[in-house]
This record gives sequence, structure tokens and C-alpha cells, in this order.
Amino acid sequence: MNRKRILTGDRPTGRLHLGHFVGSIANRVRLQDSYDCFFIIADLHTLTTRPEKAEIEQIPDNAREMALDYLACGIDPERSVIYLQSAVAEVFELNLFFEMLVTVPRLQRIPSLKDMVQSAHLTEMPFGLLGYPVLQAADILMPRAHLVPVGKDNESHVELAREIARRFNNLYGEVFPVPDVLVGEVPTLVGTDGSAKMSKSLGNAILLSDEQAAVRKKVMSMYTDPKRISADVPGTVEGNPVFAYHDIFNPDKEEVEGLKARYRAGTVGDVEVKEKLAAALNAFLDPIRERRKDFEARGGFVDEVIVEGTLKMREEARLTLAEVRSAMGVAASWNRISRKAEQARKKRESAAKH
Ligand code: TRP
Repeated sequence: MNRKRILTGDRPTGRLHLGHFVGSIANRVRLQDSYDCFFIIADLHTLTTRPEKAEIEQIPDNAREMALDYLACGIDPERSVIYLQSAVAEVFELNLFFEMLVTVPRLQRIPSLKDMVQSAHLTEMPFGLLGYPVLQAADILMPRAHLVPVGKDNESHVELAREIARRFNNLYGEVFPVPDVLVGEVPTLVGTDGSAKMSKSLGNAILLSDEQAAVRKKVMSMYTDPKRISADVPGTVEGNPVFAYHDIFNPDKEEVEGLKARYRAGTVGDVEVKEKLAAALNAFLDPIRERRKDFEARGGFVDEVIVEGTLKMREEARLTLAEVRSAMGVAASWNRISRKAEQARKKRESAAKH
């Protein structure tokens, strides 16, 4: 009955891409039969680099696009909770308690935060961005999750969540499981331009909701072996993003091996290799696109899913925070002061009567 729990999720910056799928979503879909799953729409995390009002106004649309992608990939709203982080007030509180359990130098050593400063074109590290992984630890530990499926870039954040869980338990007693990280089969998906990581902001992403023609167009202009100026020049397969995608998304292994052999020998054109990749990707994305259209056609259904999930998460959060406050003894301070105030009031009232 009491199954283990998963918590993971994404910042709502819009539609998801193939990198999200292979990094984490494939694992979520696969594991939702064996775990109770909580999927966070981490809108507070978007504030760490984009606190502007105009950005905040886009969150509702971005959140529903993202949730539609979840559903399209096969996340089952009957079984899994999808919720909006900022609507669960307890996360602010847990975040603050956790901030006391980490040091600034520990956070400064996390490489992904420096990358985020750069890609957001910031000149200095905002305090909230330094605290990004602490807030993420609050997300993970809120439903007392056991497993966190994420992409490679988030591995160090889960490591911090493990440290915080251990530190909390040491100081105040066993409240949190120490969560395990699960990185996808493809830890980091290369971008269509050959740069290290697929990312929407880098403009090198194939979205899960891209139409067939858009996928084809992106594939045909993909970065490939630059030394290969014509089809009869032997090409390099290793580290070539076109073949990296073939390996991941083309289930026809014989076709892929054949293409590789001919590529190395200089007996196949890039166009053919890419045409076959576009076909494989479109076959992979067809059912996802179809399911997305079905859910889109159900109008506000996705919003209902988010609301229902958020209400469930609020209940979980209430239970966890009650335990946290009691373990830490912070509730006791208020209780003791209130009791004294109550006694004083009674004493005063009875003195007034006499
Ligand atoms: N850091 C994640 C990202 O890269 C988003 C996120 C926020 C998250 N809270 C989380 C992921 C908790 C896993 C668990 O977008």
C-alpha cells in the first residue's frame, strides 16, 4: 500500500524538448506504475534568474504548455500529481529552515549555478539563485521523496538535497528519507547545432510538440561532420549529433549500423542520413503529438489537473511542515508564549471581577 515516492519536475519556461524527454521524462513515465509520483511546475525557480513582472505573467501559459507535454508523454493524471510550486505556501517555510543547514561556500561550488548566471546574462550572482538548490531540496523533501529522476545538470542539486536531509535528521530526528538520484539513459542530449546541451534558449532544441515539417527542417539543418564537403568524403560518426540522435531515437538498429558504415566509407550523403533521422524522430513523436492534441481539445482539463494536484500537494505539505516544526521545536516557542499570555489574560480577568 505505502509505495515509495518520486518527486521531480521542471521550470515552466514553455514547451519541453527531446532533452527533457531522454533526461527525465522517460524515467517518470516508466516508473509511475511502481512509485507515487509528484511532478512540480517549479515557477519559483524561474524567478531566480527572471524576476521581472513580464516573465511572471507568462507563467500560467507556460505551466499549462508544460503540463500538456507531461500528459502527452504519457504521465497519467489519474495516478500522478502535477502541481504549481508557488501555490504551496509551505515550500517558502521549508526553504528557510533548510537555508540554515548549508554554507555559502558549499553552494558556490555548484557549477550549474555559475552557468545559469552566464546564460541569464547576469553580472553577479543573485542571493536567490545561490539558493536555487536549497529551494529544490525543499521541493524534493516536501513529499518525503525517495527518488529524483533528473537530467545530468541537476545531479549536483539532488546531492545537496541528500546532504540537507541527513543534516536535518541529525539535528532534529528522522523526518526525511535520503533521496536517490536517477539520471536518464542519455544524461545530456547534444543540441541540433552540436553544442553540448539541448536548450530552448540556445535555439538548438527539437520540441516534443514540433510539427512533422518543423522537425524535418531542424534535422536537415543539423550540425554534422564539418569536414565532409561531399558525399564521397569519409565522415566521422563519433560525436556527430546526427548519429547520436540516430542511436537514441531510431529503433531500426540495422538501418543505423548500415548508415554508419556507409558514412565512414564515404558512400552515403548527409541528406539521406538526415532524412532517415527525421523519419525516425517523427515516428517517435507522432503518438506524443497525437495525445497532446487530444488533451488540448479537452479545453481546461489540463488546468483542472494542475489544480487537483496542487490541492493534494498542499495536504502533503501541511503534514510534512507539522512534523518539521514539531521536530525542530519551533512550534513549541509559540505554544509556550501563547499559553503564558492566556494565563495572564485569565488572571487579569479574574482580578477585574473581584
Ligand atoms: N532544477 C530543475 C530544472 O532544471 C527544476 C526543479 C525544481 C526540480 N525543483 C525540482 C527538479 C525538484 C527535480 C526536483 O528545471
